Parts: sequence; structure tokens; C-alpha cells
Amino acid sequence: THHIGILTSGGDCPGLNAAIRGVVRAGREQHGMCFLGFRDGFRGLVQNRTMDLDPRLLSGILTDGGTILGTSRDKPHKMTIGDKTRDMTEAAVDTYRRHHLDALVCLGGGGTQKNARRLQKEGLNVISLPKTIDNDVAGTDVSFGFDTALGIATEAIDRLHSTATSHHRIIVVELMGHRAGWLALGAGIAGGADVILLPEIPYDLEKVAQAIRDRTRAGKRFSIVAVAEGAMSREQADTVENLLKKKKEADRKSDRQKYSGKLAEFHEEHLNHTVILTRELERLTQQESRLTILGHLQRGGTPSAGDRVLATRLGTACARALADERYGVMIAARGRGAEPVDLEEVAGKKKLVPPDHPWVTAARDVGTCFGD
Ligand code: F6P
Repeated sequence: THHIGILTSGGDCPGLNAAIRGVVRAGREQHGMCFLGFRDGFRGLVQNRTMDLDPRLLSGILTDGGTILGTSRDKPHKMTIGDKTRDMTEAAVDTYRRHHLDALVCLGGGGTQKNARRLQKEGLNVISLPKTIDNDVAGTDVSFGFDTALGIATEAIDRLHSTATSHHRIIVVELMGHRAGWLALGAGIAGGADVILLPEIPYDLEKVAQAIRDRTRAGKRFSIVAVAEGAMSREQADTVENLLKKKKEADRKSDRQKYSGKLAEFHEEHLNHTVILTRELERLTQQESRLTILGHLQRGGTPSAGDRVLATRLGTACARALADERYGVMIAARGRGAEPVDLEEVAGKKKLVPPDHPWVTAARDVGTCFGD
């Protein structure tokens, strides 16, 4: 009998429970495995906080949002304990050995893939699954969580349309995505946003304002601007690029720390950028403007049918990989199938929106402004 540990890590998203159910049910019923859950991501592994995955507990979770295991953004090698940050890798390995586990399943996004690879290198057998509303995990066509978030964000934009039209306003809607703009792009296209601003395509504020003024001239008295959290103007993108370059080139540790500090400061300030953007657009267009931040609404609640199917497909494929002892891999969605991809090829990489992606081209073709 295989003894398998399982945890969910990173930001939660709809579909995690469906995936847990897929792995555990298929593992138990098709391959006779035993499962032990760890609470709150890698923190629970380090602290040996477990959860018995009784079959009754899995009943009915397919449709529930969030994760029954709990989650955290903790990393075993850099864990905050009290007011200190410590390397707790040894404790994580200890827990794994103490329970005589044959493998550990880690459900998570980009950060989780990195942590999974680290533990694999420590001699643990690890298999991971890709989840995130950002859709930026490398090596997989899609990640579960994205489809649900896309649906929520699209519905929100639909609703904003009717109020924007009635009041003849500009409505700026901020969508999640610090580094990757898939969600803003997808929801922007599906919701018919007039402007889409992404982290991958720096914008010029004046061009955005001009696009809105052109709409007004054409008799369209409202505009929807879909902005990803991490979207930046050309100047802001240059500032970041410059600081990153200086940090990389710095010989002294103190200089590297100085530039890291400056970058952190920039990102802290940038949290308000949609507030400033909305105000600036109002000033430049003389049109009343409002801002809506969708925030964690995009991550909560019941998964879409598509995410339930995807999570079940990947979860059950994960159980098959466990039975075959195919470790050190992430189970990726490829076409209609599921394939193991070496963690080495996934960890530390991000799938960003290529500026010439067909979605971007399609959006441009229907007249969407990217501000570039
Ligand atoms: O990675 C998923 C995500 O929702 C991002 O889109 C967002 O920037 C971030 O997590 C928010 O993180 P937190 O859970 O710390 O609010």
C-alpha cells in the first residue's frame, strides 16, 4: 500500500477541493492507497499538523470553493516563526519520514512548484498539480481556478456595463494578476472592455485617454477599462526594469539590499495605481469616472463546471502517476489529456501573456485599446 501525504499551498482558488477529491478517491478506490492531509500548506507539514481524510469528509466537496485542508503562502526553507524567518526544511522532511510516506502531493501555483522541487531535491517523492486564477503556471495549458475567476470577472464587467452606460461614465475595473494578465485579458475580451491594461504591455496614459475621447466623439458615452493589478505605464515599467538591472549588476550585498528595498517601495506604492489611473482619466477626458476593485471575489465560491472537470481530470491522473511511482513531476493539462512534466521544467518559470498572443490580436481586431 502506498502512503501518500497531500497539501494545498499558495492563494486558494475554486477547484482545489475537486482536485483533492479526485486524487484521494481515485487513489483509494482504483489503487488502494492511504492518504494523510496536512493543514495550511507547507506550514502544516513543518509543524506536523495533519487531517484524517475520512471518505465522509470528501463527500460533497466537489462543488465547494476554497480548500478543506486550509492553505498558506509559507515556504519550508523560509518560514516565519514568531518574529524570525527560519529554514524549516529539515522539519518538513522529518514529518514526511515520521509518517512513512511514499510520496507527497502538492496542489498549488508557481511558488508551490518551486517548493515542491526543493523538497524533491531533499529526497522526498513529490507530485504537484497546477492551480491558480492567474493561469501563469508554466508547462500546462491551463490551471484550475482560472476558468471560474474568468466567469466571475466577466459577469462583473457585464454588470458594470449597464451602470456605466446609464451614467455615461468611465468605469475602471481592477482584476487580479500582479505579473500575468491572463485574467484581465480574458475577462476584458469576454466582457467587451474598451481598454485592457496588462503587466506584459506597458501603457501610455495619454493614448488610453485619447481612445476614450475618440469613443465620445463617435457618440459612445461610456467606457470600460479592465486593468490587471500589475499593469504599469511605460515610465513605471522602465523604473522597475532599471532597479532590477542595478540589483543584478550590484557586486555588494548592501547594494543589492538597497535596490530590493527600492523595488519593494515601488510595489507598495503601486498598489494604489488604479485609484490614480481613474482620477487621471477623469482629468484627461473630463468624463466622470469610477473604480471597482474585484479583489478576492475572483477567488471565492463554487468552481465552474469547466474547473470541476479539469480538477477531476488532473487529480485522477495524479493518482495514476502515484501508482506508477512517477515522482518529481507536475501533472499538466495538455490538450484533452494530462501529462507529467518534470518539476525542473516548471519551477521558477512563469507563463506570461506574449504580447502577440492570439487573444491580444483578437482584442485589437475588435478595436480594444491596450494603450501601447
Ligand atoms: O496568485 C493568485 C492571486 O490571487 C493573485 O492574482 C493576487 O495578486 C494575489 O494572489 C493576492 O494574494 P493574497 O492572497 O495575498 O491576497
